[in-house]
Order: sequence, then structure tokens, then C-alpha cells
Amino acid sequence: MYVLGVDLGTSAVKVLLVDRTGAVKAEATSVYPLIQEKSGYSEQDPAEWVSGTSNAIREALQKAGAAGQDVEGISFSGQMHGLVLLDEAGKPLRNAILWNDTRTTKQCREIEQVLGADLLGIAKNPALEGFTLPKLLWVKEHEPELFAKAKQFVLPKDYVRYRICGEYHMDVSDAAGTLLLDVKRKQWSERIADAFGIPLSMCPPIVEAHACVGEVQAEFAQASGLAAGTKVFAGGADNACGAIGAGILKPGMAMCSIGTSGVVLTYAETCDQDFGGKVHLFNHGKEQAYYAMGVTLAAGYSMSWFKDTFAPEASYEELLAGVEDIPPGAGGLLFTPYLVGERTPHADAVIRGSFIGLDGSHKRSHIGRAVMEGITFSLHESVEMFREAGVEMNEIVSIGGGAKNPTWLQMQADIFGLPVVRLANEQGPGMGAAMLAAYGCGWFPSLEACGEQFVQRAETIQPNPARTEEYRNIFAIYQQVYSQTKGLN
Ligand code: XUL
Repeated sequence: MYVLGVDLGTSAVKVLLVDRTGAVKAEATSVYPLIQEKSGYSEQDPAEWVSGTSNAIREALQKAGAAGQDVEGISFSGQMHGLVLLDEAGKPLRNAILWNDTRTTKQCREIEQVLGADLLGIAKNPALEGFTLPKLLWVKEHEPELFAKAKQFVLPKDYVRYRICGEYHMDVSDAAGTLLLDVKRKQWSERIADAFGIPLSMCPPIVEAHACVGEVQAEFAQASGLAAGTKVFAGGADNACGAIGAGILKPGMAMCSIGTSGVVLTYAETCDQDFGGKVHLFNHGKEQAYYAMGVTLAAGYSMSWFKDTFAPEASYEELLAGVEDIPPGAGGLLFTPYLVGERTPHADAVIRGSFIGLDGSHKRSHIGRAVMEGITFSLHESVEMFREAGVEMNEIVSIGGGAKNPTWLQMQADIFGLPVVRLANEQGPGMGAAMLAAYGCGWFPSLEACGEQFVQRAETIQPNPARTEEYRNIFAIYQQVYSQTKGLN
């Protein structure tokens, strides 16, 4: 028997068909476009997620030569925060407004003003443009007629799940990213909802990430090749699922993930540590656990921008050929990855990136190295913040694009000054989703037991102390660039 992990990402949905040993029997991907009508806007058509998911499931089943009946359960990992507004009949009223959309600065200031200390006290997070409540308020203000028709809001993967099993739910790890959740009590906050006139009836029931919430219905079964009646599990936020899939299930564990955005995430057993709103604090996909994380908005996105702009035809291997021969500091070239603003530590949607120190002798490989270093410096801001807050970090499991390149892995170890672990079977958040289904199906007594079977380590890369020292000096300069370039646009 298999479980299916569906990772509903920002650029594509990736489906993993996983057996009881944690081996990926087949995977399939379906891409969908971003709709960017204005600078700072980022939307998607929810219908594309649903058709992409059913196509990818059908393809994965075909590749494995498996029948729908061979799948015991399906679970999800979802891009966080995106607002999907539904009418009475469950139809999306508009395109979804995504996590990387930054149109809501005004609404964020309003939220801070109205809630004051209750914002961090209850929602445990600052008001950031990407989060869901500011998006709800934006629609309420700018599209009041449409908002009046809204009966329900859900997050991206919740919409896909709704179309699969016909029920509205939101798991606690994703709900934590709405700013409407009382993170400690795991309930919608009446105080916050009332303050902004959001009826609680619009908020779906909260469930745990491993909860079984329904069954595959006939229509989706027909489209995807799954069997009607297959168990459907809630699933979790992509960062929570990334953490589960990387085995971040106990104190001392940390993860660095480089996808479109980048994340440095640490495990926490309580949500009582006060980070002063500098990092995000969300419920984990594991019950009674949390994680704190800092976010680099344009991590992998900076790298794909670099490729698309300078070498669209090249593979990433070709693009980055030679970066390993360039010493730390990229020949005096420094990059700040603020292509779409920055979250941690600046929470600034307006700042933009920079290349500083260009020299006539620089080759593409210098620029490639500078882009890698700049992204890693941005992630290091979060590592440093956790260090200063006294968070235990024994090592960092690296996942995503940054784990695929040996030079980048060593760079992470050197810049963070911590051992960096590469996984043997890294599959990102999709594996965390599959683990939630495997645990939910009762294959394992706990998520930790599932992790012992499913998460395999390949190697640990030790930091080189001399390079750590060199990078410390360059990082000090990197940190000054933000304030010096703030007035540029
Ligand atoms: C987290 C965040 C991103 C998205 C990417 O707060 O906005 O990491 O989850 O899908």
C-alpha cells in the first residue's frame, strides 16, 4: 500500500507516491502560472491547483503502475497564507491572493494599531503583508461587494482538499499563518475576528495536521485515478511539512530550506518564548509542538531570477559552473536578495536588492557566487537572531535548492558556523505530507517513529572555522547595506 503526499507549491504541485518504507515509488509535477497584474501583486487561479493536482496524481499512479485502490491515504502540504474566498456554493469569488503579494502594507499598520500588544500575545506574530488577515481586510476595503458575498475563507491546500472531499477544514499549522488564530489555544481568536468584523462563520473548523477529515469523492476519483473512499488527511503548512519531512521533531533541531522563499526554522515545545515579533512562531504539524522561523522572501527566487535574466537556456549546473573556485566574498561582490522586499529581520516590503562592488574582471561565476552568498547571508540573519535568543541549535538540516549544490552546502555550514546535514532521500514538504498520511493511517505509532523510518541522513558537512571567520567580516558589511540602500526607491 501507498500514501500520497501532495505539495501544493507556488510554482507547481508535486505529488509523491510513498510506500511503507518511506521509499518514493513515483513522483509527478504540474506547473501553474503566477498572475502579477501590478508590481507587488501575486495571485493564482485556484482551479489550476485542482486540475494540476489531479493530473499529477494520475501521472504518479501511472508511473508506478499502481491502481487507485493501492493508495490508503492522501495528505497535503500547502503554500501558506494565501487567501481563497468562497461564496455560498463553495466557488472562488476571485483569484487567490498569495503569500508573496505585498499590497497590504496599510492593512498591516491598521492591525498593529487596533490590536496593540494583543497581536503578539494572541497571534504570536507581527502583521506582515504576506499573512491572510491583511488580505481579508484589503478585499473588504477594495472589493466590498465581493466581500459581502464571501461565506468562507480557506488557504490554498484547504481549497484543493475541499474539492477532493467536499468539506471545509483548516489545520492548525496553516491556520497559525492567518493572524486570526489564538496560537496557544488552537482556536480562532474572537478578539481578533471581532476587531475587524470577520464573522467566525467564515473561518473553517480547525483540525490537527494528521487528522482524517474525509474521503475522496467520486468526481475527484474520476479525474485523478484515485479510488472513491480513499482517506483524506488535513495536512499542514509547507514549512511545517518541510520540518516534518526533514525530521525536525525534537528540541535542538533546525532546518534551512531554500525554495522560492527561504526559511530558517527551529523546533519549539512551547509558544511562550518571546522573540519580540522578530521571527514567526507557528504551530507545528506535530501535536503540542511549535516552530519559530525567519523568512527570506526571495531565496530560490533570487537564483531563478539570476538564471532567467542572464542565462535562460542554461541548466543550474551550467549556470553555477566555476562558483566553487571563487573564494568567499565573490571577489568583492556583495548581493542583497531583496528582489521583492524582505521579511526577516526587516519586515520591509519596499526595500529592493543590490549588487555592490562590481569589478570589470568579474565573470558570471562571481555573480553566481555573490547571489548564493547573499541569499545565505539573509538566512544567517535568522540564525543569528535565534542564537541571540538562546535557542538550542545543534545542527541545521538543509533542504531545497541549497542542498542540491555541494558548494552551497559548505557555504551554509561556513556562514552559519554550524554542522549542516544533507538528507539522502530529500523530497521537501511533500515527504512531510506523506508522513502525516502514513501516521494518520496508523502505519506508525507517532510522527517521530515515522521519521525514523522515512528520514534518512546522507552526510554532515562541518563548518571550516577560517571561512566562518572570513564570512563574519563580510556579513558585518552585508548588514549595513539595508540601511544604506533604504532610500533608493
Ligand atoms: C512563510 C511563507 C512562505 C510560504 C511559501 O511564512 O510565506 O514560506 O509558506 O509557500
